[in-house]
Amino acid sequence: MSKKIKAALIFGTRPEAIKMAPVVLEFQKRKEIEPFVIVTGQHRQMLDSVLNLFKITPDYDLNLMKENQNLWDLTSDILLSTKKVLEEIKPDVVLVHGDTTTAFGASLSAFYSKIKVAHVEAGLRTFDKNYPFPEEINRVLADSVSDFHFAPTKGAVDNLLNSGIKTKQTIYETGNTVIDALFYTLEHHKNALNIELNPNLKTILLTSHRRENFGEPLKNICRAAIELTEKNKDIEIIYPVHPNPNVRNTVYQYLNNKERIRLIEPLDYAPFCNLMKKSHIILTDSGGIQEEAPSLNVPVLVLRDETERPEALISGGVKLTGTETKNIVKNVQELLDNNSLYSRVSNVKNPYGDGLASKRIADIITEKLS
Ligand code: UD1
Ligand code: UDP
Repeated sequence: MSKKIKAALIFGTRPEAIKMAPVVLEFQKRKEIEPFVIVTGQHRQMLDSVLNLFKITPDYDLNLMKENQNLWDLTSDILLSTKKVLEEIKPDVVLVHGDTTTAFGASLSAFYSKIKVAHVEAGLRTFDKNYPFPEEINRVLADSVSDFHFAPTKGAVDNLLNSGIKTKQTIYETGNTVIDALFYTLEHHKNALNIELNPNLKTILLTSHRRENFGEPLKNICRAAIELTEKNKDIEIIYPVHPNPNVRNTVYQYLNNKERIRLIEPLDYAPFCNLMKKSHIILTDSGGIQEEAPSLNVPVLVLRDETERPEALISGGVKLTGTETKNIVKNVQELLDNNSLYSRVSNVKNPYGDGLASKRIADIITEKLS
């Protein structure tokens, strides 16, 4: 038998772990591939929770997270620590995911080591280097050093072709692996919801963690939550608060102990998927949630001015509200008051994938590197 392809998958945060888990599981099934899982530990608790759910034991855990870490230290730690591991494994290919500091640092590290780089979720763009910050530049740089671009949608393929990736041969439209993760989780963990919902209240799920929303935008989001619950006695807002201290301090200062606003710890992925499914409306600045919710028939209002995920805007399941209190309140109120609008935007087809993205990625890696 010919030599196995050594594929190192490097990831570090919650969303990367969720979206890379199906790729790890698929690689483990393939006899042609020998997968190595390297986690940077950019996130700790939230990463571990995903690893547990998908029963993935990392081959290397770099354990890098520090309290309130900064981009400079984290980036240099990732570069230096992945260099050592890559020297040891000598993989044929390194797979990174998305737009985090881990994705950028690990792809650069593999490039410096002259190892092929495969970028999963390639080609997302807002074309504004500051929004989202620093993710837009992270993904541009990861794409620049990559030899395989696994683009989730046709739009992402076009972005790559228009942004200087000269050869079409490196670009593959695969769908987004988040849909693989979502389908797998909903099938295997149907009743995982571990918080009680009041059956007499409509649940509005809220999440916010983006760096560009720190400070005033996040305060505006909190003000909107207060105004909405004061106006609508039949709603409850549930907010799993991201552990980043820049988020936590503001959110607890504004929303702690407010009537029908529940601040909770981040949920494990399986209960979270079930909570999304039971929610009436989702308010979020998260990337992954914008991709998942259209599969669950739940409308999403995005707490940002722009998005690198325009497909669901076009299909109507997702709408941008920005971060002005007035605008957020207006958009939620419309969905609460207008039943025909609500049913229109909650019944859309998911444009992000069919649950087979990881299989396609494994097929391409096998075909090209065997
Ligand atoms: C990171 C990514 C962002 C992604 C987000 C997903 C970068 C620059 N940012 O942002 O693109 O959307 O993850 O959630 O790569 N913390 C914990 N426990 C955890 C995770 C985080 O305590 O499990 C706290 C730590 O104090 C840590 C801080 O949150 O220092 C910030 O984590 P970091 O990964 O730097 O930024 P995020 O805002 O999580
Ligand atoms: N998520 C979760 N628990 C939570 C909040 C979010 O499991 O309490 C999941 C969510 O379903 C999605 C992912 O985490 O798959 C999104 O992560 P996050 O919002 O942190 O990052 P982003 O997608 O914006 O990079």
